[in-house]
Amino acid sequence: MCGIVGYIGEKNAAEILVAGLEKLEYRGYDSAGIAVYDGASLSVRKELGRLKNLEEALSKSPLTGNAGIGHTRWATHGMPSTKNSHPHTSMDGKFAVVHNGIIENYGELREALTNKGCVFTSETDTEVIPHLIDYHYENNGGDFLRAVKSAIVSLTGSFAIGILCKDFPDTLIAVRKDSPLIVGLGKGENFIASDIPAILSETRDVLFLDDGEIAVITKDGVSITALDGNPVIRDVHRVTFNENAAQKGGFEHFMIKEIHEQPKAVADTLRGRLSLSAPVKFDGIEPEILKDIDKIHIIACGSAYHAGLVGKTAIERLAKIPVSVELSSEYRYNNPLTDSKTLVIAISQSGETADTLAGMRLAKSLGARVLAITNVVGSTVAREASGVFYTYAGPEISVASTKAYATQLVAIYLFAVFAAEVLGRTSPEELYTIKSELLNIPELIKQTISTEAEIAALSKKIYKETDMYYLGRGLDYAVAMEGSLKLKEISYIHSETYAGGELKHGPIALIEDKTVVLAISCDKDLCGKMESNIKEVITRGAFVVLLANDATKPMHAEFSEVITVPETLPLLTPLSAVAALQLLAYYVAKNLGYDIDKPRNLAKSVTVE
Ligand code: F6R
Repeated sequence: MCGIVGYIGEKNAAEILVAGLEKLEYRGYDSAGIAVYDGASLSVRKELGRLKNLEEALSKSPLTGNAGIGHTRWATHGMPSTKNSHPHTSMDGKFAVVHNGIIENYGELREALTNKGCVFTSETDTEVIPHLIDYHYENNGGDFLRAVKSAIVSLTGSFAIGILCKDFPDTLIAVRKDSPLIVGLGKGENFIASDIPAILSETRDVLFLDDGEIAVITKDGVSITALDGNPVIRDVHRVTFNENAAQKGGFEHFMIKEIHEQPKAVADTLRGRLSLSAPVKFDGIEPEILKDIDKIHIIACGSAYHAGLVGKTAIERLAKIPVSVELSSEYRYNNPLTDSKTLVIAISQSGETADTLAGMRLAKSLGARVLAITNVVGSTVAREASGVFYTYAGPEISVASTKAYATQLVAIYLFAVFAAEVLGRTSPEELYTIKSELLNIPELIKQTISTEAEIAALSKKIYKETDMYYLGRGLDYAVAMEGSLKLKEISYIHSETYAGGELKHGPIALIEDKTVVLAISCDKDLCGKMESNIKEVITRGAFVVLLANDATKPMHAEFSEVITVPETLPLLTPLSAVAALQLLAYYVAKNLGYDIDKPRNLAKSVTVE
């Protein structure tokens, strides 16, 4: 996820921008840049990699001036590179722009602007913005604000934008839609930022912009208007928390912050790909990728593997193609029956997992087409695949995956619908129902997260246990595996997962008085059978925590505790259920006082085999 900072005042803008960008480093980024009005023009410096690269460039060739904008980039459209990093400028350098979010219709805008003679220098979606503003500026008699307004009404997607114009060196314009942006208030100086920490050492007085609002900022004042031109009066908010807490958005750990970010991460991943009126757009992946394919192999590790298990059910049910899911580390040594009629889907948050990469390379050598689902633009997995679909979870900082896993689920559901549409294997009516419900998923995840206080209370009853068992059937089994992995990773409590029907084939011997069993029962077609499994463990004295929804809860007569998640289509239940299990693992670990974001023995990116 990118970061924005902007300054207008009397101090050295470059210093303030770089200091602000440093405060955003925790978010993760691949390049950084600033633009400063130097008294004559807008000068830009940008560098690939760490902020220190930008600092070194600035120390060799400083930028002086009292107004500027800065950006740390987490690539979405276009590889991490200097030319793709922000700020982006109009052709004559009159406008400089920093942008967070995604411009969905950038392809059409780019084509239209190119036809008008614009020359693009980057692969980004962002670059359309300065060109578009410039175009309207020329056609609006040099009115900066009008040009910005005219440009943004043509943008679809999400954006937080900071804009400077060489002809108006005393003005900084900021616009927000679906991507956070604040204005910081100082004396004789003002700021913009995507995140509070970027400006917290300069001011604690901030204005929060709402969607569709434009702020015109000078060193002496701020005026906010809605898109229709109506003035907006906004109360000043005084920030009371410290910088460390601010980086975590006021949350105690990145993990809980990232759990809360899931509705947005999922919405971002759906945006521009899924609509009710058109087939799913699977980014640059053409329907030809499915031509003559007779099977799919999904390879992944850890949480990504668990997303793959859900993918198997979704793809087989909707696209009716046989799917096998293998741990990348096993796939490699199993002499896989992969050939030119196989589509291999590699799922990896980091895009750098050594086993998944090796599995991909093997698949390619066997003649397969390889599709990657990853969260990191320009990662090795992305570069080596024949096609890539990006999840837009933003950087995940906590070692235990939460929002990245949720977006992997979304990606794989979208692929299942995409394949079903291409192959015509599921009725349009059924696909319409699934698509409508997918659009509703961010809201359902919000509802699940709203049970946080109850889950925290429940965690107090079980956190001292040494063993826990997760049970589920069908997709609930896949989700149970993910819940159990989360618990193990951050609470170090031994936990295992069993398919409900397998209990009687051995594991039930482990159940004794007060053994904690998490029974996941969200599929109304399977909850009758789950009820039998729950009874089997209750009879042996288990303390059963039931995770169910309004459709399945009535099917269960006895349990010790219940977590209720919103009901959704049986095929999509992992998306509404998993946040509850993430929260449970989080609160259990928190009660135990562990280092939740950096659990022992674990690394965020596993680049060794
Ligand atoms: C679990 C977790 C790991 C990763 C696994 C794969 O919370 O984070 O199990 O899912 O190491 O990593 P990626 O997705 O980067 O390939």
